[in-house]
Amino acid sequence: VEGYFANGPLSGKTVVVTSGPTHEPIDPVRYIANRSSGAQGTAIAEALAKLGADVTFITGPADHPMPQGVRLVRIETAAEMHAAVTEALPADAAIFAAAVADWRVASASDSKIKKDGSGQLPVLEFAENPDILQDISHLREGRPQLVVGFAAETDDVIANATAKLKKKGCDWIVANDVSPETGIMGGSENAVTLITADGAEPWARASKTDVAAKLAQRIADALT
Ligand code: CTP
Ligand code: CA
Repeated sequence: VEGYFANGPLSGKTVVVTSGPTHEPIDPVRYIANRSSGAQGTAIAEALAKLGADVTFITGPADHPMPQGVRLVRIETAAEMHAAVTEALPADAAIFAAAVADWRVASASDSKIKKDGSGQLPVLEFAENPDILQDISHLREGRPQLVVGFAAETDDVIANATAKLKKKGCDWIVANDVSPETGIMGGSENAVTLITADGAEPWARASKTDVAAKLAQRIADALT
């Protein structure tokens, strides 16, 4: 797709955005997942498209309306998201807003697991999913110029997010406090801190649309 507005500051730039949860199957009717509405990732993809970027939006199952003016790739599992991101490269920037399940069920059952009436409980074994953000950040060839991660944290948000930036090797982390008392999870507003090599920059609490617009502008400033 051409950029939403082809002559914005990001015209000619390609950006990959991940969003939403991933679903990891247990059996044909059950799955495990993170809580994620996909609202913030959707808003970011749309804000980037409005600045003229060619956006590939890779999303797990989310009820939220899909962004306009982007290339849409729907996936279910973390493994599928990883493959879709790899396929979408090269890109100038990659923004990882998805809430990726850290674990999948090691051997999902092809047939429905039944209650057998004996009261015996199923036992699930897990395997660790690929860390998509970390893998892309560490690419030796074809790494996007700007790699941005998200960190939904509780407790010491900035310390946790700064540690995550270093561990993952990304350029920026957008950190937010998802403690229940903030009311951020599932709401229409977000209060984030942008963490870069220069330090932590708290942004005023605002609508997810406004946070997305500000982040898209910062991305445009960094790429041009
Ligand atoms: N992420 C990813 N692939 C994964 C897990 C996370 O791409 N398998 C990305 C998320 O999209 C986000 C960032 O990594 O941008 C941080 O995710 P988070 O779950 O906060 O980090 P984890 O390293 O999984 O740490 P935690 O134990 O706190 O969940
Ligand atoms: Ca995680």
